[in-house]
Amino acid sequence: MRAKLKTVRTFPRPARRQFLLAAGGAATLPLLGGCGGPELLPEAGVPESPFDKNSTAEEVTADIDLSGKLAVITGCTSGIGFETMRVLAARGAYVVGTSRSLTRAESACHRVRGICTPVALELSDPESIIQCAEHIRSLNTPIDILVCNAGVRGGGNEVVLVNGVERHFAVNHLGHFLLVNRLLERLYLAWQGRIVVVASRTAYRDAPEGGIDFDRLDGSGLYRDREAYGQSKLANVLFAYELGKQLRGTRITANSLHPGVIDTEIDRNLNPVLQVGFRVLTSVSGKTVEQGAATSCFVATSPSLGAVSGKYFEDCNAVRVEDNPHMQNDALAERLWDVSAEMMAPHMVELRRPDWSEFENGLRRRGANDEKEDSG
Ligand SMILES: NC(=O)c1ccc[n+]([C@@H]2O[C@H](COP(=O)([O-])OP(=O)(O)OC[C@H]3O[C@@H](n4cnc5c(N)ncnc54)[C@H](OP(=O)(O)O)[C@@H]3O)[C@@H](O)[C@H]2O)c1
Repeated sequence: MRAKLKTVRTFPRPARRQFLLAAGGAATLPLLGGCGGPELLPEAGVPESPFDKNSTAEEVTADIDLSGKLAVITGCTSGIGFETMRVLAARGAYVVGTSRSLTRAESACHRVRGICTPVALELSDPESIIQCAEHIRSLNTPIDILVCNAGVRGGGNEVVLVNGVERHFAVNHLGHFLLVNRLLERLYLAWQGRIVVVASRTAYRDAPEGGIDFDRLDGSGLYRDREAYGQSKLANVLFAYELGKQLRGTRITANSLHPGVIDTEIDRNLNPVLQVGFRVLTSVSGKTVEQGAATSCFVATSPSLGAVSGKYFEDCNAVRVEDNPHMQNDALAERLWDVSAEMMAPHMVELRRPDWSEFENGLRRRGANDEKEDSG
């Protein structure tokens, strides 16, 4: 049998470039939400901030001294994570920055003025998460700020599984779920611990109709990478929302945010047409990286947010998405928590709130129990 001939239509170079730009721009428009979207209402009870979409990470932290504080930032090697690390370190924080590659994390830390420690972290690998958490715990310091920033997006409409779980959900949500579990004890020890989860507005634009498709976390059924990314980002929002509830009455807060649309490496797995479109549209209507890190830095440091927890932020303000049934859905958040805890059960530690009488200056006193543990 003769193989079918493929018809390949070629464009002269300038025409091909124009075609790519136009196709990319058109394909990316809904991605960027360039055509409207639900209304965002100010979140009741949270003070309006003086900052907006044009504010930069440096501006929102201008008067803040973070000397003596420890900040952990996942995904510090590029984009929003790098800028967040740079600015928090410039304000005096001691920053632990992670990457899948220790060499890349070292190089990012070298490019920053201040004190930064690179640590390896592969969020799809529970062993790597445990080792990273143990490394951070070995610093024997309370954690003041934990920014769950690292993320992956795209890859085509062929599902990629990680330990049997769809990759966006595994990396963006489950990985951070386990990391927080392993580090929470150290956040209790801070004067006021903050967990900041970098989500995305795709949480309410692209997630499945039912919110989280619990029956298809194994990637079964019709798979679309855009929907899978949106679902993982909704999981980020619901995780912070549920954490906020569970940590009520403690000094730890947990919030999530959309950083804006920013030309970073996040598009590295998108197809070439979408990549071109992403570049064009971020240059027209996106934020700079300096602006993109502003909401993370604001939520991580603003004195006005010391008691604000479980909220979702855009452009440095807490907002509520009008008529969205999922973003603050108690039942969905609880179910997500239970399902995630079951999936990560073999790797999780049981947490108990610290008994403050065992602590001195934020650190556990060495006592009889420790000696017993040391001797086996
Ligand atoms: N840019 C945007 O327009 C936009 C919009 C909405 C939300 N966001 C969110 O913002 C966050 C930061 O993204 P970005 O735009 O700055 O993208 P980016 O430049 O691609 O940075 C992503 C970071 O995540 C790390 N990372 C990727 N996969 C990882 C894995 N499996 N385990 C551990 N770390 C991993 C990368 O580090 P290594 O490669 O060195 O490991 C990198 O430092 C993400 O959560 C993203 O979803 C971005």
